[in-house]
Amino acid sequence: MVAHPTKIELDEKEMPTAWYNIQADLPVPLPPPLHPGTHQPIGPADLAPLFPMELIKQEVSTERYIDIPEEVQEIYKLWRPSPLYRALRLEKLLDTPAKIYFKYEGVSPSGSHKSNTSVPQAYYNMKEGVKHITTETGAGQWGTALSMSCEMFGIECTVYMVKVSYQQKPYRRALMETYGAKVIASPSNTTASGRKILETSPDSPGSLGMAISEAVEIAAQRDDTRYSLGSVLNHVLMHQTIIGQEAKLQLEKVGDYPDIIIGCTGGGSNFAGITFPFIKDKFAGKNIRVIAVEPAACPSLTKGVYTYDFGDTGQLTPLVKMHTLGHDFVPEGIHAGGLRYHGMAPLVSHLMELGAIEARSYHQNATFEAGVTFARTQGILPGPEPTHAIKAAIDEAIRCREEGVSKTILFNLSGHGHFDLGSYDRYLKGDLVDIEYSSEQVQEALSHLPVIA
Ligand SMILES: Cc1ncc(COP(=O)(O)O)c(C=O)c1O
Repeated sequence: MVAHPTKIELDEKEMPTAWYNIQADLPVPLPPPLHPGTHQPIGPADLAPLFPMELIKQEVSTERYIDIPEEVQEIYKLWRPSPLYRALRLEKLLDTPAKIYFKYEGVSPSGSHKSNTSVPQAYYNMKEGVKHITTETGAGQWGTALSMSCEMFGIECTVYMVKVSYQQKPYRRALMETYGAKVIASPSNTTASGRKILETSPDSPGSLGMAISEAVEIAAQRDDTRYSLGSVLNHVLMHQTIIGQEAKLQLEKVGDYPDIIIGCTGGGSNFAGITFPFIKDKFAGKNIRVIAVEPAACPSLTKGVYTYDFGDTGQLTPLVKMHTLGHDFVPEGIHAGGLRYHGMAPLVSHLMELGAIEARSYHQNATFEAGVTFARTQGILPGPEPTHAIKAAIDEAIRCREEGVSKTILFNLSGHGHFDLGSYDRYLKGDLVDIEYSSEQVQEALSHLPVIA
């Protein structure tokens, strides 16, 4: 019998040269973003103070493919095409008839999929003469990716890092500073929105929603400054589709196609990256299951409501229709910092409403257990975020064993966990707490949703 390859690679020349834009294939178009004041659909001019025009165009484009600029392709080649692995050792441990494949995005210099969008975002900003970019970061992965990309294009970068992550991950901060960025723990007293939060909650652990408000506030004040978001927006999700397009080519090389595709979801970008190129096939009649996995402590897709809400705590962003726990919901300080966002990408939310995807949630001890199993079989230490996807892949593979069916499972391993060893340490010592989602807290936050006529 010929052994199945462990690692399926693409040549640099085989790297896709365009991003896939799912907006071209949606059976029902996406509800438009609304102006926070007038509640009318916003136009490009409303977004111009925050984003370069090329990205605004991509945000609303319905063209199926958008070319990746050559300068961006050259930088992508520092780590792309990323490898696709068959998790043969995990399959053996689970004694499953299922085939488990994973795409490994931890090979990027910053350690995660986030560089797939930080590079083009910095590039388009540079092209339009922007000198300074502000952003937020949860786990620190996004801030690291953007810091590296800004430095490559000669742009100054200021990162508002969620306070609990700033404290949990000092080396992430040091890495961003090594790339030349300025890192500020959020909420901070450098902005009006930060000061307002500190007045009422001086010990606030911070949240992505708060850090977004701070970064947006600074960008809106300065002419030479724009804001950059690491997830949620349509163009960000589109930049990530290089992941799924590569995975498709790699699976073709071994004559396979997935029955089940899995990604963890914070704002939805790595999930979109691995799944959207396959959802295109699903719309064309392919029978696949697509599973989004989120933390039980911040369950926007499984317990949130689908409605218009602000993307940030300070109510500075446009209103977008999404699954939300309420813009002032402050998730507990769980260790998957990148999944602590109150909302979900409008595109992912829309696909959920259309029935194209399903969602589930897990508590953090169960996901760390899956992460440790994965590290012990496959050798790679996953970030706490993708341990959610691993847990779902393991559960699906066990289900295959119990039902005696062989399915092909594909999941995205969005980043490594080398900066998350403090969290692994706590898990191994039995110190991690499973935080029960408090319905009172969420009901309170949902009672502040904006009322749209
Ligand atoms: C490694 C990793 N995976 C996943 C996420 C969640 O973000 P998204 O849902 O946009 O992929 C993050 C966010 O910081 C991350 O760092």
